[in-house]
Amino acid sequence: MGTASTFTLLLACAPFVLEARQPVRARHAMVVTREPHATDAGVAVLRAGGNAVDAAVAVGFALAVTHPAAGNLGGGGFMLIRFADGRATFLDFRERAPAAASRDMYLGPDGKPTRDSIEGWRAAAVPGTVRGLEYAARKYGSKPWAELLAPAIRLAREGFPVSWGLAQSLRQSKLLARFSESRRIFQRDGRFFEPGERLVQPELAATLERIARHGADEFYEGETARRLAAAMRENGGLITVEDLKAYRVIEREPLRGRYRGLEILTAPPPSSGGVGILQMLGVLEGTGFERYGAGSAAAIHWMAEAMRRFFADRSEYLGDPDYTRVPVRGLLDPRYLAQLRSSIDPERATPSERLRPGNPRQYESAETTHYSIVDPQGNAVAVTYTLNGGYGSGVTVPGLGFLLNNEMDDFAAKPGFPNYYGLVQGEANAIAPGKRPLSSMTPTIVLRDGRLYMVVGSPGGPRIITTVLQVIVNVVDFGMNIQEATDWPRFHHQWLPDKLYLEPGISPDTRALLAARGFAIEVTRSMGEVAAVLAEGGWLHGAADSRVEGKAAGF
Ligand code: GLY
Repeated sequence: MGTASTFTLLLACAPFVLEARQPVRARHAMVVTREPHATDAGVAVLRAGGNAVDAAVAVGFALAVTHPAAGNLGGGGFMLIRFADGRATFLDFRERAPAAASRDMYLGPDGKPTRDSIEGWRAAAVPGTVRGLEYAARKYGSKPWAELLAPAIRLAREGFPVSWGLAQSLRQSKLLARFSESRRIFQRDGRFFEPGERLVQPELAATLERIARHGADEFYEGETARRLAAAMRENGGLITVEDLKAYRVIEREPLRGRYRGLEILTAPPPSSGGVGILQMLGVLEGTGFERYGAGSAAAIHWMAEAMRRFFADRSEYLGDPDYTRVPVRGLLDPRYLAQLRSSIDPERATPSERLRPGNPRQYESAETTHYSIVDPQGNAVAVTYTLNGGYGSGVTVPGLGFLLNNEMDDFAAKPGFPNYYGLVQGEANAIAPGKRPLSSMTPTIVLRDGRLYMVVGSPGGPRIITTVLQVIVNVVDFGMNIQEATDWPRFHHQWLPDKLYLEPGISPDTRALLAARGFAIEVTRSMGEVAAVLAEGGWLHGAADSRVEGKAAGF
């Protein structure tokens, strides 16, 4: 038998081999989160007849227990919902600046930004998560409130086994070590958790039980509010009972756009993410970048140039739309997109200094979290919520068991001047009482022929926006399955610093080609933690990012 026919025979006898890592597949429902217990909580709610919003609320509370770096009661976020009947809405439960906040509150005697926006009591903005989850459950959920908190209460009261990743993260956090209550709960005063040991959080369980009994009013007007405000007073923080009582969720229209015939629903301001996704996709469509193939220097070049141009705009134009005029239509106008496209040299990197003066923030925290849910009725929910930095401000409120955000650091501490890290942001994102800081969180839902196609999002500060972009492009333009699209090596450009960040998985050959085109390359740690669902062929395909210990599960 000749070689060719032996090969043919072998192929014929071989078991079916899948070429890329496969997503989790299910017929009816799918939950993808950053942490397995939280995924299980969401699936249990769906199996008990709850809808995707019910599951999203249960997951939000569960992550506040099992993923303390970003899951939260003391932070804020966004929930994008697309109902099976075609309606869609966007819940903004972003934190807001306390009434006592002021434009220069983080400037020291030398006029330079201090570390106060980054850690400690003064870094916290008024949390929105508990109000946001209650608003979602009341208006769009179907299950009793207490049932949605039950899994979180059990996880906090009985504890759960600490994963390998959580054990490392808790052990390594210098921030937690600086605040006694955080050090006691999360680091056992130096007797660090080993993987498999149980993290039990009785104070957090008690807070959750009160919220389960009395609703979000407990957090904003009840015992929790009083104790939080008293602790703020004692420690020089700004949040008062009046700030808590005044907190409101804002229901907004999702931002909508199109890409290659698909409809994209995404986050409006105060997120910069939706504008970013739509602008970058709009610039890319029509360039032909996709013909070079995934991972090629030429495709990365086009995408990096689209990223660079968006981040230049972000630094100048984006902020809380209730405080500053954000020119969303102009930033997405086809004529403007054509102008941006034609400014890209396909052979040479554009030096960032040529685009516009200014300087967006160099580093935003990677520690946010995203989850994606589809229920058996076809409702889809994308939630991204955060404490901002990993473990937020580092402060656990004594007796209440939850960490506070450091979201004040998402404002420009000194517009137009370098902040603590030597970085600059624009006037549109200056601090003002009651204002919401500019965000990069980008929960996104994609429709094909008017039907649900993709639910996607990620943490990662500004890398959120470029991560979501890459997952969409990897599926739509490069034909990857959703797991492969999620796991594929990523890159990021944010205008300034003028660097192209590459994950280590991008080959040295490609790196060299990009350097030859004029990009300043920096190989960096992993970017983003995607949680995505793709609806195709009558199946739901769930992808938890292989960069972290997440879980996709469905039925
Ligand atoms: N704190 C991260 C973000 O809102 O983008």
